[in-house]
Amino acid sequence: GSHLVSLDEWSAEQILHLLRLAEWMRTHRDDASQLAAGSVMATLFYQPSTRTRLSFETAMLRLGGHVAEYEGRSLDTDDLVFRETIHDLIRSLSQIDDIIVIRHPREGSALVAARASDVPVINAGDGGHLHPTQTLADLATLLRLKGGKLRNLTIGLCGNLAASRTAHSLVTTLCRLGHNLHFVLVSTRQNRMPDWVLARLDRTPGFSYEEVDSLRPVISSLDVLYMTSFYPTQVEPTGQARQASNSTANGKRLSRDYRVTPELLRAAKPDLAILHPLPRGLEIDRAVDDDPRAAYFTQISLGVDVRMALIATLLGKLPQQFDESVVFAE
Ligand code: CP
Repeated sequence: GSHLVSLDEWSAEQILHLLRLAEWMRTHRDDASQLAAGSVMATLFYQPSTRTRLSFETAMLRLGGHVAEYEGRSLDTDDLVFRETIHDLIRSLSQIDDIIVIRHPREGSALVAARASDVPVINAGDGGHLHPTQTLADLATLLRLKGGKLRNLTIGLCGNLAASRTAHSLVTTLCRLGHNLHFVLVSTRQNRMPDWVLARLDRTPGFSYEEVDSLRPVISSLDVLYMTSFYPTQVEPTGQARQASNSTANGKRLSRDYRVTPELLRAAKPDLAILHPLPRGLEIDRAVDDDPRAAYFTQISLGVDVRMALIATLLGKLPQQFDESVVFAE
């Protein structure tokens, strides 16, 4: 069957079709409510998740399907054991369930799972590598806020760009869907965007980027600001706090150069869109939530729609009424 491990495996047309279907799901809840009736989705989360897990479960329930939750736990093993474990586990579950969602701390885990599975596998985050369904929610949000186009925009990304799977997924997908985009990559030297993502930007006609070490000098130029957490997602299974304390020297530096506050936003464009996959630490001041430019709760709302569209698509349960000419609301 087909999977979603990386959006690189989907054509631009398939991605845009899915986003249109997500809009249909949003506006046709009743028509969608039995599309996955009788189907069961297995969820395996080896890393903490609030939004992604509940969003997948809720999407399946809204489609009339069922959810079987595998009690995931952190695997602290070497590669060989990991591969056998995931392979056998997924091969087995694919005899039981109709679709499998997996989040795992190791890069490439979702690919291993997809290769082992006889049913569709969805990557809900593989270590610091990719998080494609977050990207679908991000794209739906950007299309809604930017007039249905991903064109002629200056997009800032800020945080631990080295470890941010959401940033990697978003940028590499925009390389295929966007036109004439300029990226402003805001990070410390240690947390730079990885070379494999920069290489994609280099290769994309009409795209450009710059790397800077503070939001302050660039905030006024941005049409979109995508914030991410400062800490690598890999540390989460230990339960370690994700955020530096504000009292350390490093914390003060993060606070000055990498934190969104109402004061910083005074210099920003009135139609700036501020995104964040959440959970957040200190990088966005709670006072920003009341600013109309804050879009991070919209991302969560649209995340259910894109997951409904994805599940229905991978199960082959597309609505007959779906009119492809549906355009984006607002
Ligand atoms: N955005 C996101 O992946 O959130 P969770 O870690 O809560 O799933």
